Amino acid sequence: MLEINDLHSFYGDAHVVQGASLTVRDREVVALLGRNGMGKTSLIRSIMGLALPQVRSGNVSWKGEALVGLKSHQIARRKIALVPQGRRLFPSLTVTEHLTLLKSARATEGWTVERVFELFPRLAERRQHRGNQLSGGERQMLAVGRALMIDPELILMDEPSEGLAPVMVQHLEDIIAKLREQGLAILLVEQNLYSALSVADRVYVLETGKVVFEAPAAALADDPSSMTRFLGVH
Ligand SMILES: Nc1ncnc2c1ncn2[C@@H]1O[C@H](COP(=O)(O)OP(=O)(O)OP(=O)(O)O)[C@@H](O)[C@H]1O
Ligand SMILES: [Mg+2]
Repeated sequence: MLEINDLHSFYGDAHVVQGASLTVRDREVVALLGRNGMGKTSLIRSIMGLALPQVRSGNVSWKGEALVGLKSHQIARRKIALVPQGRRLFPSLTVTEHLTLLKSARATEGWTVERVFELFPRLAERRQHRGNQLSGGERQMLAVGRALMIDPELILMDEPSEGLAPVMVQHLEDIIAKLREQGLAILLVEQNLYSALSVADRVYVLETGKVVFEAPAAALADDPSSMTRFLGVH
């Protein structure tokens, strides 16, 4: 469904994605792991058609169509959503306003504000709160809810568990499992190997902009030691 082949991206002269290749199949949860600065966000931004880093070669193909060269709003229209690292909400907009930025509050097709509130009851209770009045966990829920409002078939989530307490990380894992049951594919950037293993079907490790390891999560769950050398976890 999503196929990345030998992708190279740059910030000016800095070559940060150095020939990455990976695949996300229909209804699959794929984890992208790697230490700080290894190029995970740069790869996600390259898929999403953001201005930087600049893709100079390689292919991103989505259902057979080439995405490189398309703008991010054109990519969003092809049902790929991004939950960016750091959540990126608007401080002065309310929860409901965030959810209806890209879709009318009266829409009845696909994901609606009410359906997002069913998934995240906490957000329903805080629907009039502004972005800057939400906790870290609530912000993350809203970032995911906002991504759902484009009715994605694939969500790119960039470290959604960053900075969350263990109980919120668990909640997020449950949400990811539910979304997969509903037919979504997810490419999940994660630093925590064990959290990734509990939700993902397959795992890739990125090192200096290249995939250096790939395996089914089930195989790793019994033998995580093979990965720890890439991730620096013990
Ligand atoms: N806007 C930018 N301009 C120039 N270099 C950048 C920019 N953003 C990131 N980089 C560099 O690109 C490399 C990859 O960064 P990237 O943000 O993709 O890493 P990451 O794997 O997402 O790290 P983290 O886990 O800390 O989020 C790093 O060396 C970083 O310093
Ligand atoms: Mg990052």
